[in-house]
Amino acid sequence: MAWSSHLMVWLGILLFHYVPLGVGAHHQWPVGGSTRFYDFKVQTMKITKVCKTREIVTINGMYPGPTVHAQEDDRVIVKVTNETPYNATIHWHGVRQRLTCWSDGPAYLTQCPIQAGQTFTYEFTLVQQKGTLFWHAHVSWLRGTVHGALVIYPKTGVPYPFPNPYEEHVVILADYWFKDLQKLEKRVLASGGGAPASDAYTINGHPGPLYNCSKNDVFKIDVIPGKTYLLRIINAALNIELFFSIANHKLTIVEADGEYTKPFTVEQLMITPGQTMNVLVEANQPIAKYNMAIGPYMSAQFVPFQNFSAVAHFQYSGVSLTSMALPAPLPFFNDSLPVKNSMNGLRSLHATNLPLEIDTDLFFTIGVNVEQCHSRTPNKSCQGPNGGVFKASMNNVTFVRPSISLLQAYYNRLHGYYTDDFPEVPLKTYDFVNGAPNNIPNNTQSLNGTRVSVLEYGARVQLILQDTGIVSTENHPIHLHGYSFYVVGYGTGNFDPMTAEINLVDPPYMNTIGVPVGGWAAIRFIADNPGVWFIHCHLEVHTSWGLSMAFIVKNGEGPLETLPHPPADLPRC
Ligand code: C2O
Repeated sequence: MAWSSHLMVWLGILLFHYVPLGVGAHHQWPVGGSTRFYDFKVQTMKITKVCKTREIVTINGMYPGPTVHAQEDDRVIVKVTNETPYNATIHWHGVRQRLTCWSDGPAYLTQCPIQAGQTFTYEFTLVQQKGTLFWHAHVSWLRGTVHGALVIYPKTGVPYPFPNPYEEHVVILADYWFKDLQKLEKRVLASGGGAPASDAYTINGHPGPLYNCSKNDVFKIDVIPGKTYLLRIINAALNIELFFSIANHKLTIVEADGEYTKPFTVEQLMITPGQTMNVLVEANQPIAKYNMAIGPYMSAQFVPFQNFSAVAHFQYSGVSLTSMALPAPLPFFNDSLPVKNSMNGLRSLHATNLPLEIDTDLFFTIGVNVEQCHSRTPNKSCQGPNGGVFKASMNNVTFVRPSISLLQAYYNRLHGYYTDDFPEVPLKTYDFVNGAPNNIPNNTQSLNGTRVSVLEYGARVQLILQDTGIVSTENHPIHLHGYSFYVVGYGTGNFDPMTAEINLVDPPYMNTIGVPVGGWAAIRFIADNPGVWFIHCHLEVHTSWGLSMAFIVKNGEGPLETLPHPPADLPRC
């Protein structure tokens, strides 16, 4: 559907004028022209994919879930009712949640989960945000099936900074498991070992014809020769970074993580879990059926994964339905060169508010650890390398989830749930890429703790993220809640301030950065949104292992710099 017709449908159904007050404490932030209401029912549903039937958790019985449409500066109100026996929350990935930290969604960070039978209403304003983002569950591994697109159009009358496409399509990439994802997370953690490979990759829920029993389970885009199409690509996968390409067609990236970029044309792109990319594709090839394919980018060693492709069709009108599809070439699974190439091309269209000076300088290592086995049943519970237990950490601190939400603990000044001593730099300096903090091969022990780092309101923060090679180096997609950040630099090896190239002209403004395998990335942001903000690896198994921490950003002065009271329906633990 062309976006104009899309918008008309939504204008018809969903455009209400904002009704001020009466909706709790959310009236501080100036509100845009309209409010969008959505009703999300968390439900289970039977689904058959790749020859197997299983029950999955969905929103409103849809996989992927419903697309949320809005315009820049709109208020979004989503009532979530949990009709499943599982705990649920929804995170609005990439929404900066200006003064609405309570609606951010990560379980035990900003809220307790919405329990079976309960309801919670998320409410936030898309302050100066437009583009493609997405939403997903943020508890256990539920987001594997509970995810969907969030499409934010520019304000009425404001054009895109590129020629208007003929049509737009949401393209959600994911990985798919036959197993119950909550049980799977528990089982992986109990084993001490790694996560198994997924059973399929999917494009808008369809694995495509290369998988068993999936000849007709294929996503298709019908195109007209000579027209240009905008694809809103979202990587919603749990545990896999993905390459994407279309046979014989070039991809022009015009937006990343909901921010415009200088147009940049590639043959293939890599997108990490948590990233979104808008690309323009010109239907300028002979009439035929072309594959649109995804395949794994796996930069770590010893990790099981599915080395296979999910395929969709980009098919020209007039093509015979039985004609063969042309194959889409994908890079070799561990080829980091196309990753670097597409990263080099990501440049902001306009980098506004980029901090040139910094007053808070942080350096966090990120990576996987192996801890010593303390179990009496090591064969069962210590299946990590050398009979150890997998963990992961930032600055060698493994994040331990508290039993109530950190935001509640902070807001109500409750003691004993966290400490504010997260280290600004690693406690031990060593060769991060090639070494380990301890010399014993089966003990690369991290510290356990719920440690946060407190930032002054308005602090101009630079954070260096440094990959470690304790178990294996790996590209980690690090996602920050509550902010986008400028990616001012990145490189391979250990970060060296003397040689690091820093781009203070047009760095991309992102919410998730794939820190290069065995390398580093430097990000900058201004801490002007008070609350508790999670930062973590968007490979879900790494979050389960503790590759995360949280920032507490203090209030500033005045109501526009102060976090309001929690909403009355905030779930209880
Ligand atoms: Cu998309 Cu904390 O995640």
